[in-house]
Amino acid sequence: MLTPVALSEFSAEIVHWQQTHGRNSLPWQNTRDPYRVWLSEIMLQQTQVATVLAYYDRFLQRFPTVSDLAAASQDEVLALWSGLGYYSRARNLHRCAQDVMALHGGQFPRSAGQLQTLPGIGRSTAAAIASFCFAERVAILDGNVKRVLARVLGFSADLAQSANERALWNQATELLPHENLAQTMPRYTQGLMDLGATLCSSRQPKCLLCPVQKMCLGLASGEPEKYPVKTRKLKRSAQALSLLWAQKPDGSVWLEKRPATGIWGGLYCLPVFASDEDLKSQLPESLDGRFEALPKFVHVLTHKDLHLSPWIAGFQADQAMPETMVSEACPAAWFSPAAWPELGLPAPIRKLLTQDAPS
Ligand code: ADE
Repeated sequence: MLTPVALSEFSAEIVHWQQTHGRNSLPWQNTRDPYRVWLSEIMLQQTQVATVLAYYDRFLQRFPTVSDLAAASQDEVLALWSGLGYYSRARNLHRCAQDVMALHGGQFPRSAGQLQTLPGIGRSTAAAIASFCFAERVAILDGNVKRVLARVLGFSADLAQSANERALWNQATELLPHENLAQTMPRYTQGLMDLGATLCSSRQPKCLLCPVQKMCLGLASGEPEKYPVKTRKLKRSAQALSLLWAQKPDGSVWLEKRPATGIWGGLYCLPVFASDEDLKSQLPESLDGRFEALPKFVHVLTHKDLHLSPWIAGFQADQAMPETMVSEACPAAWFSPAAWPELGLPAPIRKLLTQDAPS
């Protein structure tokens, strides 16, 4: 464990380093507007800064306030999110905006404890918003920050066990600044994020440049990469899905809205089948053989590899989709290419549809 002296120096070093070496001109910095900070934190949860930048600008242009976002349709929110992935974030974002309007009079609550009651805002995100916007003395602990703190503290207990994770949260709270919180808290929070995203990387951390190298017990152990310790391995699975790309001569494609839960929930998508046989059994006989398999491809999700098998089927201008393909749970229709950008299409489906169709 760090000695009391090192403990008190830690936050001062982070704050100073953030000021001189951290990121200070991202579009969601230099504002204390919780709507803007919240939006950026949700977008940044599983997505790199470089990707978020364009989405963040577009979102704010379309939804300048939380009230605009709350009033939008879920379809429009999902369409603007399309390509960022992890669509439960977008659904929670929309619900959160509606809760802020309905339950909090249109103002984000001003404490981490209250923020955490809102959809999609976990303990660390709530703390990030409260420390950036309201200078609350409260600890963040996302994946990057766990790595930074576990190394500095030489924290070798297994973070897969919740008691150990709780202990790290407690230590994270002890390390927070005590003075001048209006200035130090936003910088300290950003500094930990910046350190985790730049110098204190999972592999080959740049310890020689680190502002807390002198007090880092992980570095002193000679093997900083060994921290944090987490035994639970992500169990990956694989799933095969067949996709029906039904197209009319004018280029319009049959797209259905996926059920709210499950893969690509709420997005428009090609009809999905468990196997090629299932898919072929649903095709109308009147297609007269105008269908063929396209090259299979793999789309990698966090927990799953999707092995996708697309089939293209040439429908005639006046040919209807069979009744069996239409259900109330999944509204579906023919959509011309001009309409696709307005729909929330999953990234792999959008890529498939916009590459040149094989002749
Ligand atoms: N990742 C999560 N929050 C962030 C922030 N405020 N700045 C940069 N990267 C982040």
